[in-house]
Amino acid sequence: ATDELALNDGHRIPALGFGLYKVAAAEARRVVAAGLDAGYRLVDGAELYGNEREVGEAVRRAVDEGLPRGELTLTSKFWGDPDQGADALRSSFTASESALGSPIDVYMIHWPRPARGQFVETWRAMIELRDAGRIRTLGVSNFTQQHVQRLIDETGVTPAINQVESHPWLPQHELRAFHRQHGIITQAWSPLGRARVLDDPSIRGIAEARGVSPAQVIIRWHLQLGGALIPKSTHAERLRQNLDVGGFALGDDEMAQIAGLETGERTGTHPDDRQ
Ligand code: A2P
Repeated sequence: ATDELALNDGHRIPALGFGLYKVAAAEARRVVAAGLDAGYRLVDGAELYGNEREVGEAVRRAVDEGLPRGELTLTSKFWGDPDQGADALRSSFTASESALGSPIDVYMIHWPRPARGQFVETWRAMIELRDAGRIRTLGVSNFTQQHVQRLIDETGVTPAINQVESHPWLPQHELRAFHRQHGIITQAWSPLGRARVLDDPSIRGIAEARGVSPAQVIIRWHLQLGGALIPKSTHAERLRQNLDVGGFALGDDEMAQIAGLETGERTGTHPDDRQ
C-alpha cells in the first residue's frame, strides 16, 4: 500500500496519501498524527483548507519524534482567489511555507481559473520558485488536457502531477491516457466519491465477496489503474483500513465490472465552474 510512483522530475511519491479537505483546524493535528502513525507518507494539504498551521505542527512533532522528514511528501496548493498571477502565487506560497513551518515538497495550482487568463503566468512563477530551490515538485489540480497542454507548449515545463476528481463513476480514462503520454501522475481527489460510491451495489458486491470493505475495493481499483489517490477520513480506524489494501488484488473481471460503473457523475466542482 505504500507503493511509490516515479515522477517525471526524477522524484517519487507514495501512490496512496491522505487528504485534509474539510478537516477542521481543531481536528487537523489529531488527524495528521493518526495518518502518519498509520503509515501514510503523503499529506495532501492546501491554503484553502485553513488548517496548515495545525498540519505543520503535527508534521514537525512527528519529525521531532523520529520520522525521517525525507520520507514524507507534504503538498500544498495555491488557491488563486481573489488574485491569481505571479505576485499572488509568491505571497501565497510564502504564507503556506511559514504556516507549515516545514518545506513544501509538492506545490500545485489548485484551479486553472481559465477565464482569468493567468495560469501560464502563474506556472512561470512556480518554475522560478522551483529553480530557486523552494519547491521540489510542481503540480496542478483540476486542469483539463487543454490547460496542461498550454503549460507544456508555452513554458516547456510539464507538471509532474495533476490532481483531479476521479472515482469509479468518473474514471477519467482520456485524461489518464494523456497524462501517461507525458509521464504525469493522475492523483485522484474524492477517490471514494465523497463516500457516495461506497454505497454502489456493484462495489458492495465485490467487497462482500472478498471480505473487504467498499473503500478498500475502490482504493485497489485506483492503484491498479496506476494512479495516485488521497482518500480523506477523520477517523483513525478508517485511515488505517484505507492503507491496508496490500493483501488482495482485483481480478480483470472485477476491474471490468467497475469500469462499467462510469456515469460521468461528479461529486465535486467541475473545472470550468470555478473562475
Ligand atoms: P469520515 O471523514 O467521517 O471518515 P473522499 O475522499 O472520496 O472525498 O471521501 C471522503 C468521505 O468518505 C468522508 O466522508 C469520509 O468520512 C468517508 N470515508 C473515508 N474512508 C472511509 C471508509 N473506509 N469507510 C467509510 N467511509 C469512509
